[in-house]
Amino acid sequence: MDKTEQAKKRAAFQAVDEVLSDRQVVGIGSGSTVVYAVERIAERVRSEDLKITCVPTSFQARELIINAGLQLSDISQHSNLDVAFDGADEVDSKLNAIKGGGGCHLQEKIVAHNAKLFIIVADFRKKSKFLCEQWKRGIPVEVLPLAYVPVMKHLKKLNGKPTLRKGVRKAGPVVTDNGNFVVDVDFGILEPDKLQTIDIAMHMIPGVIETGLFVGMADRAYFGMEDGSV
Ligand code: A5P
Repeated sequence: MDKTEQAKKRAAFQAVDEVLSDRQVVGIGSGSTVVYAVERIAERVRSEDLKITCVPTSFQARELIINAGLQLSDISQHSNLDVAFDGADEVDSKLNAIKGGGGCHLQEKIVAHNAKLFIIVADFRKKSKFLCEQWKRGIPVEVLPLAYVPVMKHLKKLNGKPTLRKGVRKAGPVVTDNGNFVVDVDFGILEPDKLQTIDIAMHMIPGVIETGLFVGMADRAYFGMEDGSV
């Protein structure tokens, strides 16, 4: 396992060990780091006989929960979550985050918003002073397919540089788990006090479904560092 994977694993394991307790309803995020959180949750459920109910944030998360033998629910049956564990693409010094590199930020944000505790697990590459310092792919924005052209026009009026996300092994746009498109918008480096304004402005554009800016949502972030610490 390389240094980055080890860092992801250490962060996820420590977060689960410090936060998870019996009879919790737990949101399961998406991406590669949360895989380790699910691994640790499953280990603890088995060894400590915990009663944990899991709410997924994506097709991937649903599969992770099922394959780990964990109890699967959904946000309509369990809308009061105790905790949600999720990865992030970048986290600033105030714990604001960019999410949606994997296109799952709509369901991730719904689950995080309905959790008492939102815990980010990530490796050292994700820790920044300001958002978009290291993450150069822009802010992911989930958009209604029929509206992507006018939405991109209005994002440009906010001084963003929008790009319709295209598939790697598919011709045409990426389609999310919810049947929508993703537009990645480059606004340059974003200081914490500008985030809310820009997020609200994007939400005001008809056709924008959700942004990947998670402003003031995270309660804690666990970063696995290069030196082995968390
Ligand atoms: C999914 O759309 C994203 O929000 C992920 O949570 C984020 O990209 C983190 O993924 P990694 O853990 O793979 O870096």
